[in-house]
Amino acid sequence: MVKICCIGAGYVGGPTMAVIALKCPQIEVAVVDISVSRITAWNSDQLPIYEPGLDDVVKQCRGKNLFFSADVEKHVSVADIIFVSVNTPTKTQGLGAGKAADLTYWESAARMIADVSKSDKIVVEKSTVPVKTAEAIEKILTHNSKGIKFQILSNPEFLAEGTAIQDLFNPDRVLIGGRETPEGTKAIQALKDVYAHWVPVERILCTNLWSAELSKLAANAFLAQRISSVNAMSALCEATGADVSQVSHSIGTDSRIGPKFLNASVGFGGSCFQKDILNLVYICQCNGLPEVANYWKQVIKVNDYQKSRFVNRVVSSMFNTVSGKKIAVLGFAFKKDTGDTRETPAIDVCKGLLGDKARLSIYDPQVTEGQIRRDLSMKKFDWDHPIHLQPNSPTAIKQVSVVWDAYEAVKDSHGICILTEWDEFKTLDYERIYQNMQKPAFVFDGRNIVNADKLRQIGFIVYSIGKPL
Ligand code: NAD
Ligand code: UGA
Repeated sequence: MVKICCIGAGYVGGPTMAVIALKCPQIEVAVVDISVSRITAWNSDQLPIYEPGLDDVVKQCRGKNLFFSADVEKHVSVADIIFVSVNTPTKTQGLGAGKAADLTYWESAARMIADVSKSDKIVVEKSTVPVKTAEAIEKILTHNSKGIKFQILSNPEFLAEGTAIQDLFNPDRVLIGGRETPEGTKAIQALKDVYAHWVPVERILCTNLWSAELSKLAANAFLAQRISSVNAMSALCEATGADVSQVSHSIGTDSRIGPKFLNASVGFGGSCFQKDILNLVYICQCNGLPEVANYWKQVIKVNDYQKSRFVNRVVSSMFNTVSGKKIAVLGFAFKKDTGDTRETPAIDVCKGLLGDKARLSIYDPQVTEGQIRRDLSMKKFDWDHPIHLQPNSPTAIKQVSVVWDAYEAVKDSHGICILTEWDEFKTLDYERIYQNMQKPAFVFDGRNIVNADKLRQIGFIVYSIGKPL
């Protein structure tokens, strides 16, 4: 029986390994993590992450060929294939701070693999890493060369949160990069055999190591660039009377452009787009390519601009002050169908409104009060560095209340900001909401999900992204 071990039981490691276990009943899969509380949650009925369909998959294989364990070394030492899916955050200190990837977690995992291994291993980079990381990892793995052979593969993950299970079941492609040597080719084939249990072989792409590593950063940069492009257009639409949804539709019907990922919004969030582009920018700078670095940096700048533009619009349209006014925030997660708040635009928007002394009442169907308070009190980039976090000590920000019902959030408010596109916000009883709000009642739709004309008929003043008033 082939044994797989995955180091890192997070948003990627957990779902990815659960799907491998489901699709390959003859493979034993162990997911390990230094966080005991995370492993305990994976072994309970309350999984540590909310992801549609995940519970089902885990229930079908847990205890059969899928195991979650905090005994990292034991499972690593017996595995044939080791996936490393640890966090690779943005550095907060020292050389490259604010841009470069912090490979501390990766390096410590690699050193541990080298120390505990007693047989040859295939080590798979699942985390998103800077191009050429495999070269550094190879050096670490062979540092105490006990005659054990390691083959490094790059197998970046392309799943999106909220649709992780369907993305894993039916991926556009699986990418495997490896050394162009007989041993490298053999290792690529071994990993290909795993995915071939359910992914059509023509969708399993094999490249050299550096192309695979760079393709992951490139894919995220291209995706984020589309959002910043359409968001930049949204500002021009607001200034000219064009409607960004009509513009997106018109350009998306060109088969060379395509219709997906063209929704204007309050800005993109999530744990990876910003981190990976900053990483790309840093790599370009290190390689003496300032023009290329500046090109990609602009994607982040437009995203920051979009978030601050949203805050400015709220404040300026509410007679240039929100001081003491109650603003309801509907949605805090970075997108629907996840409880993840990493780099959510809601953090910057809420901080901006708090800076103007607003009182916030926040509701999200999947995010806890503790998480919201932690997010609002944390410094940039600290969220992905567990050592910087103070668990269970969320700051009490007096002007913020977190409630468990949209109607409670909006009661007596002067304005509503919709910051996540949860389906339930489309079907709220806006007549009832209007009756219970201060007048004039404002709606700022940061996701373009409400029917603005209908709301205007009720009496709301509605601001959408990139649409005429
Ligand atoms: P995460 O923070 O949810 O999970 C990482 C886990 O690794 C944590 O539970 C942490 O405790 C554990 N860990 C850290 N160091 C360890 C060590 N030395 N030994 C054992 N466990 C250790 O992160 P994530 O969202 O799963 O992302 C992981 C990687 O995958 C990142 O590089 C990210 O860029 C990439 N990625 C993420 C997504 C996504 O949707 N979240 C998608 C594609 C790629
Ligand atoms: C993204 C990529 O889509 C995945 O392929 C990749 O694997 C992953 O990053 C990663 O490397 O972590 P994710 O961040 O989970 O996945 O979610 P997306 O659906 O890409 O959304 C990211 C952000 O962009 C969200 O805030 C979303 O609301 C926003 N977005 C997305 C828009 O504002 N407009 C769009 O048209 C699409």
